[in-house]
Amino acid sequence: MAADSEMVSLFKQELALCNVGEGTRLAILSEGDVRADYATAFLEAAEDLGADAFQVNIRKRPGSFFGPGNSLKGNASAIAALKGVDMVVDLVGLLWSKEQTEITEAGPRMLLVLEHVEVLRRMLSSPDDRRRVEAGAKMLAGAKEMRITSPGGTDVVYRLGRYNVVEQYGFTDTPGRWDAWPGVFLYTAAHDDGVDGTVVIDKGDMLLPLMRYVSEPIRLTIERGMVTGIGGEGVDAELMRTFMAGFDDPRAYAVSHIGWGLDARAKWEFMGTSHAGAHSGGQDGRAYYGNVLFSTGPNTEVGGTNDTLCHLDIPLRGCTLALDDRTIVENGRVVPEELRAAGR
Ligand code: FE2
Repeated sequence: MAADSEMVSLFKQELALCNVGEGTRLAILSEGDVRADYATAFLEAAEDLGADAFQVNIRKRPGSFFGPGNSLKGNASAIAALKGVDMVVDLVGLLWSKEQTEITEAGPRMLLVLEHVEVLRRMLSSPDDRRRVEAGAKMLAGAKEMRITSPGGTDVVYRLGRYNVVEQYGFTDTPGRWDAWPGVFLYTAAHDDGVDGTVVIDKGDMLLPLMRYVSEPIRLTIERGMVTGIGGEGVDAELMRTFMAGFDDPRAYAVSHIGWGLDARAKWEFMGTSHAGAHSGGQDGRAYYGNVLFSTGPNTEVGGTNDTLCHLDIPLRGCTLALDDRTIVENGRVVPEELRAAGR
């Protein structure tokens, strides 16, 4: 397959942000023919930059899915090959699985790339995005409490300090560090029993991976870190109840990572739609500038032990988020000067 020259030039920009250059050992992880065009273009982009690049292509197993359900599980020789390089481009979605941790702990940095190429192009990051996320991470790491409120009725408090702060700025040049392209945002999680209050998922907010904009509010009751009630008469509340119950796992109802978005290029309106090539698999919503990204389910990504397969990412718009006594986001507007994108 010949590589698309525009894609190659875009991927070269991304790999350059990741400090890929002369002699960098780079592996592209793919499965079956999924994103085969990305793999080909990454190989060419890497070679243009002087890197030693190769592809690890595994069989996509029936029923495999992101994260802990990945097809790499048990494939010792493929894992060994990935552990032996400087950087892995993940086109499969290892996402916080044991396999991902095993590889990055051996040294390689890892970049996840799943989104549509037009989303990758629109949301290509810059070093300034990294600066803003790192500034936010300092604030988050130093905070004891996070409070989120909204005009729709959200009022919830997270007791912080137990888990890691995860920075995502859309590229990685640090050994062992994971990131995803695209997306500029950050998050942590509360103590396991440290979330109490109400979260209202309001009209127009997103339910991922159900890929829906909510049309009638869903009202979550949260006690000691667990969702104990999913209120709401609309179809979205019913879908959420059914989706979560389907895993038959009490750990599905744990509250998971929490943070806010800083990506000024993200567009709320493009999730799951096909508009002028702007189709987004949800990363726009996760990273959206001034959002709050609420989530339920596993907490392995921040260093916890809950590895339930039921994970919901729920981007909320127009909230106010405070760390201790400092307002970080006010009605969807990013407040601290050092976190704000140019012109925002
Ligand atoms: Fe998540």
